[in-house]
Amino acid sequence: MSGNPERQADAGPLAASSPHVPRHIAFIMDGNGRWASSRGLTRTEGHRQGLEALRRIIRHCGTRGIEIATIYSFSTENWSRPEPEVKFLMSLLRRFVQRDLSELHRENIRIRIIGERQSLEPGILKLLQDAEDLTRENTGMDLVVAFNYGSRQEITGAVRKLCEKLAAGDLQASEICEDAISAELDTAGLPDPDLIVRTSGELRLSNFLLWQAAYSEFYFTELMWPDFDEAALDKALESFGSRDRRYGGVTAQAL
Ligand code: FPP
Repeated sequence: MSGNPERQADAGPLAASSPHVPRHIAFIMDGNGRWASSRGLTRTEGHRQGLEALRRIIRHCGTRGIEIATIYSFSTENWSRPEPEVKFLMSLLRRFVQRDLSELHRENIRIRIIGERQSLEPGILKLLQDAEDLTRENTGMDLVVAFNYGSRQEITGAVRKLCEKLAAGDLQASEICEDAISAELDTAGLPDPDLIVRTSGELRLSNFLLWQAAYSEFYFTELMWPDFDEAALDKALESFGSRDRRYGGVTAQAL
C-alpha cells in the first residue's frame, strides 16, 4: 500500500518521504454541534459544515502522502441522539457516498468500512458495500470510514469468533496471541494508527480503536471539527513529527 505518487509530487515540506509523516492517521471529528450553536445555527448545519471540513481534510491527507485516514463518523452510541439528528447523519453519509464516490475513485482512493453492519438500513448497507466494491482495487490512500462503530463491540466480536473456532476445534488456546486477535477485528490487515487527532477540546477516545491505539500518538485541539482545516492538520503533523516514539523501549541516544 503506497500513497499516490502524483499527489506526493506537489506535497509540501511535510511530504510522505519524511519519516515524520504518519502512515495511518485517525480523526475523531468532534464539535459540529457546538460549532453550530455558538453561531446560532442548527446542529444539522454543524454536521453539514463538518462534511465540508472532511472533504478538505481527505484531500490534504493525500497531498501529505498519508497512506491511511480513518474517520469516526458514527458511533454505536450515537443512536441515542434525537431521532431527527440520527436521520440527518444517515442522510449525510448517503450524500457523501453518492456525491463524492466517483471523485474518490478517480483519486485512486480505496474505501473501507468498519463497524457493525447488520443493524443498518438495507439501502445504506448496499451503498457502503458498493463503495467498497468499486474502490477495492485502488492503490492510493485508504479511507477507512468507521460507521456504527464501537471498539468494545468490535473486540467482543473478535473474542466470540475466536471462541467459535476453538469450539469447532480449528484453533488451540495456545494459538491465541495478539496477531490472532488483531486478525479478527474489523481493521484486520491495516496497520495501527500512528496518530489520532481529536477536535473540540475533549480529551478521550470515546470507544474508538481501543486495541489499535496501544502505541498511537494523540493530538488534541480546541478547534471544532468544521474549523479544522489544512493548516490545522499541518500543525498536528508537525507535532507528530517531533514525538519520540519508543514503544516501551528507550531512545537510541539513551543506549
Ligand atoms: C461529533 O460532533 C460528530 C459526529 C457525531 C458526526 C461526525 C460527522 C461529520 C463530521 C460529517 C461527515 C459525516 C459522515 C457520515 C461522512 P458532535 O455532534 O458530537 O458535536 P458536539 O459535541 O459539539 O455536540
